[in-house]
Amino acid sequence: LKVAVLISGSGSNLQALIDMCAKDDAPAEIARVISNVESAYGLERAKQADIKTTVIDHKKYNGREAFEEALHQVLDSDKVDLICLAGFMRLLTDGFVQKWRDRLINIHPALLPSFKGLHTHERAIEAGVKFHGATVHYVRPAMDEGPIIVQAAVPVLPGDSADDLGARVLEQEHRIYPLALKLIAERKVRVSGEKVIYNGVEN
Ligand code: GRF
Repeated sequence: LKVAVLISGSGSNLQALIDMCAKDDAPAEIARVISNVESAYGLERAKQADIKTTVIDHKKYNGREAFEEALHQVLDSDKVDLICLAGFMRLLTDGFVQKWRDRLINIHPALLPSFKGLHTHERAIEAGVKFHGATVHYVRPAMDEGPIIVQAAVPVLPGDSADDLGARVLEQEHRIYPLALKLIAERKVRVSGEKVIYNGVEN
């Protein structure tokens, strides 16, 4: 399965995907890493792994559609089968999401549908929840919505700072994102409408 990973920052999730795909029997190959931020450290991680990189700076395009057209051209020319958003901090238009429907997944640092959006760890602590976590899901037009593929839960401990909790969640992100990609690449999971099907069994 040919994969493109879209990033905007450190790319620690990208690194987890790189490490999974580097295994001999890996069912997926990262064809390209694309960042909308030129200085994203994730680009260094890709170069270290001999993976092609492209910067498409959204500030150089007037409007989302123009930026996404540039994105689409690169993805199309690489004949990518699946896009993984990993710390990619741009909202994608409905048009792009529909064009890549069911071939576009994302990781969100919360147990969706709780805590969509930003600052999820601070909000989880503020809300007093006892469990928090991460979600890998198929992308749908509405932000942080879509059929859930894998989740991981972590306890919120007394005295946790947002950083403490974030680190505990990130550790799980690095486990479930490669797992989700592997499941999809090995066709052990697929999406049908809004339902995720595991080996023929609806979740
Ligand atoms: C992570 O919390 C991830 O869940 C979110 O972006 C943050 C940074 O990810 N999508 P990364 O280290 O750039 O992969």
